[in-house]
Amino acid sequence: MTRQPLRLAVLEAERILTDAGVASPRVDAELLAAHVVGVPRGRLPMVPLVDPPVVEALRTLVSRRAERVPLQHLTGTAAMGAIEVAVGPGVFIPRPETEVMLAWGLAALDGVAKPLVVDLCTGCGALALAVAHARPDAQVHAVERDAVALSWARRNADARAAAGDTPVVLYAGDIADSGLLTALDGLAHLVLCNPPYVPLGARLPPEVALYDPPAAVFAGADGLAVIPHVVRTGTRLLREGGSIAIEHDESQAMAVPAQLAARRVLTDVADHADLTGRPRFATARRATFNPHLR
Ligand SMILES: C[S@@+](CC[C@H](N)C(=O)[O-])C[C@H]1O[C@@H](n2cnc3c(N)ncnc32)[C@H](O)[C@@H]1O
Repeated sequence: MTRQPLRLAVLEAERILTDAGVASPRVDAELLAAHVVGVPRGRLPMVPLVDPPVVEALRTLVSRRAERVPLQHLTGTAAMGAIEVAVGPGVFIPRPETEVMLAWGLAALDGVAKPLVVDLCTGCGALALAVAHARPDAQVHAVERDAVALSWARRNADARAAAGDTPVVLYAGDIADSGLLTALDGLAHLVLCNPPYVPLGARLPPEVALYDPPAAVFAGADGLAVIPHVVRTGTRLLREGGSIAIEHDESQAMAVPAQLAARRVLTDVADHADLTGRPRFATARRATFNPHLR
């Protein structure tokens, strides 16, 4: 069996993915190669030669990626903060953009001992589990409406707990439900939410249109259908001084902060860009916990 240069197999993969219109062909080719070889991407240069079955396995994955199956469905994982979570059919794939909101949320907890954190719309659990990993003293709660997504979240929560992270409390629930998590009213130091926010009918790449669950992506004609529920439930959960962060589409940089600013108990409303400079999430702080003020 003649061993073959991995570098050439990666070059071939990059060419195929470029022809298929994949947005980041080189990165994807390297990540698939790293997955097949079983090393981190940065260590690929340490693997100059591989056996033919490795090249074949890479070709198989590359041809599926060229059909626009998401990279994360092929590797089975997605990153969030310092952790990786399992993803696959039926659950939204966590995006790098959301890591900026995670970092903002963790910074908001600086100096707060034993914070209580709620992740609304948790999907596979990525945000909640990344917070629990970064803040072992935190009590983290996470809500998801979809049964399949929740089963991914349970699987990830079990894996992170087995790895030694503080367990996250998962709830099957609808954030539009006014009875949701009422035992936590006024207790949260931080509420995070990456809700569905894409306007119905928006043109999306095949990886999103064919593989992310529609209920995780779309939210009415303007993409804002879920935001009032996030603002209402999030505000109710926050303690005085607690913070909320809501991810949004770049077209919603006025609308989402406006919904936060409309609540009299919220202050310091701001909007933030992601690493590409696009407006990406809105934040606010609860000024007072007066249940009679809205
Ligand atoms: C954009 S995905 C985000 C998932 C995860 N937070 C992340 O960043 O990867 C939105 C998630 O919210 C869930 N969802 C949508 N509407 C909901 C609702 N009313 N109550 C609870 N979860 C909801 C969807 O099923 C989906 O898993």
